[in-house]
Amino acid sequence: MITGSEGIIVSHVIRLFVIKYPNYTIINLDALTYAGNLENLKDVEQQKNYHFVKGNILDAIFLDQIFQQQQITDVIHLAAESHVDRSILSPLDFVYTNIIGTVNLLNTAKKYWGGNKGQHLFYHISTDEVFGSLGDTGFFTETTAYDPRSPYSASKASSDHFVRAYHETYHLPAIVSNCSNNYGPNHFPEKLIPLFIHNIIEKKPLPVYGDGLYTRDWLYVKDHASAIDTIFHHGKVGETYNIGGFNEWKNIDLVKLLCALMDQKLGRTKGESEQLITYVKDRPGHDRRYAIDASKIKEQFGWEPSVTFEEGLSETIDWYLDNTEWLKHVTTGAYQQYYESMYSNRDI
Ligand code: NAD
Ligand code: TYD
Repeated sequence: MITGSEGIIVSHVIRLFVIKYPNYTIINLDALTYAGNLENLKDVEQQKNYHFVKGNILDAIFLDQIFQQQQITDVIHLAAESHVDRSILSPLDFVYTNIIGTVNLLNTAKKYWGGNKGQHLFYHISTDEVFGSLGDTGFFTETTAYDPRSPYSASKASSDHFVRAYHETYHLPAIVSNCSNNYGPNHFPEKLIPLFIHNIIEKKPLPVYGDGLYTRDWLYVKDHASAIDTIFHHGKVGETYNIGGFNEWKNIDLVKLLCALMDQKLGRTKGESEQLITYVKDRPGHDRRYAIDASKIKEQFGWEPSVTFEEGLSETIDWYLDNTEWLKHVTTGAYQQYYESMYSNRDI
């Protein structure tokens, strides 16, 4: 079972697994919240080894039925509320889905895998944000102490702790991986890169928070999917793995690169899109810098990113320019209200 099928990361994991492992039966569970879009997996939905089930991980009875009916052997758990700005507006949604939803899944796996745990795996996908905020130097390693500082990262940290607690207490076979910021096709336009691609296309202001010198470590989503594949098949139960791109960018430098690439692709005058950059009120509790030390998976499994940032970004922009209908579809209706509520009080 793979939870959260239609989000950016999940849709790429599903596509990889469905195509690469035709002998696996993949049960794909998603509540289809605003971030889930069935169009993201149109190309694989007819495959025989793929079965979509609409359902919420908060519904423990439903989870019990699925585990019983489908005889779930392994879980890759990605379903989550994932946007920091939304977590600041409504933390409880993050408590419910990320903490209680995860514990519901753990309880169900514990019940059904009872006496036969050695043949199963509960693989929990998490984020580097649980480690908190770095200064100008240093990296997060697998042993860095947790120090979450946003409601999103606090809820993910809590879910990671529960997964490890179930491993220690009930011997549930579990692995956790913590990944840096992802980008790529199918990304809902609320996070930095897809939002700014959308705004550049529409010639709308690009709202850079604070001084724009916040730093993130960016990984192409297809590389995250390949790391998940590697860890699922070769990771050691009870272990944690960090996944990252060794690819740090200050937000403002990234935005300028994005503007330059898009000016070229859209046939606009050099520098035109940069004019859209607008510094706005900062995010409260904004983490200054994230940077992952991903040497453990490189040393143990030989995994490393397959594309440079410029290649990944260029492919991502091309995808958005080729999928304007998708973009139009996800940015109508509720998105407009979201955008208004998120950005109108940031002086934009
Ligand atoms: P996303 O927000 O794009 O998608 C989340 C998916 O979960 C959606 O399809 C949504 O419909 C589904 N979902 C939400 N609540 C649900 C519920 N209660 N029951 C069932 N389904 C539900 O997320 P993403 O960016 O693809 O992230 C996937 C996972 O990876 C998350 O656990 C996230 O914390 C983690 N992660 C994300 C990033 C990143 O940069 N996006 C980086 C590291 C880790
Ligand atoms: P985001 O994509 O929301 O990821 P996260 O907060 O999980 O790292 O944001 C990436 C960086 O971009 C972060 O420093 C906040 C900043 N940002 C902006 O400056 N403007 C925006 O409109 C958004 C969404 C993010």
